[in-house]
Amino acid sequence: MTTKKQPTVIAFSTQKGGVGKSTFTTLIASILHYRMGYQVTVFDCDFPQYSLLQLRERDLKTVMQNEILKKMAHKQFTSINKKAYPIFQSKADQVLDEIKMYVEGSEITPDVIFLDLPGTVNTAGILQTLTNVHYIFSPITADRLVLESTLSFTDVLTNVLMKENQTGIRGIHLFWNQVDGRERTMLYKNYSKLISDLGLQLMETTITDSKRFRKEGELVAKTVFRSTLLPADPKLLVQCRLDQFIEEFLKVVKL
Ligand SMILES: Nc1ncnc2c1ncn2[C@@H]1O[C@H](COP(=O)(O)OP(=O)(O)OP(=O)(O)O)[C@@H](O)[C@H]1O
Ligand SMILES: [Mg+2]
Repeated sequence: MTTKKQPTVIAFSTQKGGVGKSTFTTLIASILHYRMGYQVTVFDCDFPQYSLLQLRERDLKTVMQNEILKKMAHKQFTSINKKAYPIFQSKADQVLDEIKMYVEGSEITPDVIFLDLPGTVNTAGILQTLTNVHYIFSPITADRLVLESTLSFTDVLTNVLMKENQTGIRGIHLFWNQVDGRERTMLYKNYSKLISDLGLQLMETTITDSKRFRKEGELVAKTVFRSTLLPADPKLLVQCRLDQFIEEFLKVVKL
């Protein structure tokens, strides 16, 4: 009997809301699945909002109602010859079992499974689930509360649980998101130093603050940015440094 290839489980996760978890899950999932040839599956565990499932529904409508998008999608799906990646609804305390069942039962084993988890440790089962994720990427923003809670939580995961081999985690990587280049350079410098002093991993790429993140799957000057059905336009990636981010991301997760 041959053992099945196991997918790499990845979560954009922090204990703070509104920092970019769901946005990054969508952007990276779409690029890997539609442009780079990987098989992606998403488990949306953010009960009760289920923002990714809702986004998929809105993306479907947006694409059907716009001729340019419809053509783009048609061209894409005929050329890649595979379906949109599935987005399943789950819960933080059930998702590990559901992944196991899904992988055993499905014909195509995904290369990557993304989990979108709630932004709070108070959710049942979340710690147990997080310690079984292979790679955690945590967006941080220049906000004292975001930083303090994220750093202390990441510190415990990295310097206590991972060191005691109590987890399946292979890496936890923080990254600066929503960076406004003109301001607070000292804050970024000081916190980046603190992060390295704590022995935590910080990604080199910083993502700029950009209005296009706030736009959903609609057309941005005849291109698309955040959509669960189409990958972001390469030109738009460059402007906020997501192209560099993906390169660094792939080096870390070694798919
Ligand atoms: N680099 C960026 N520049 C500008 N806006 C951004 C950036 N990254 C994320 N945002 C915006 O921040 C908001 C929150 O993002 P998102 O919903 O992904 O966060 P979240 O961490 O999943 O939040 P929640 O905890 O509510 O699930 C969204 O409107 C998103 O478009
Ligand atoms: Mg979210």
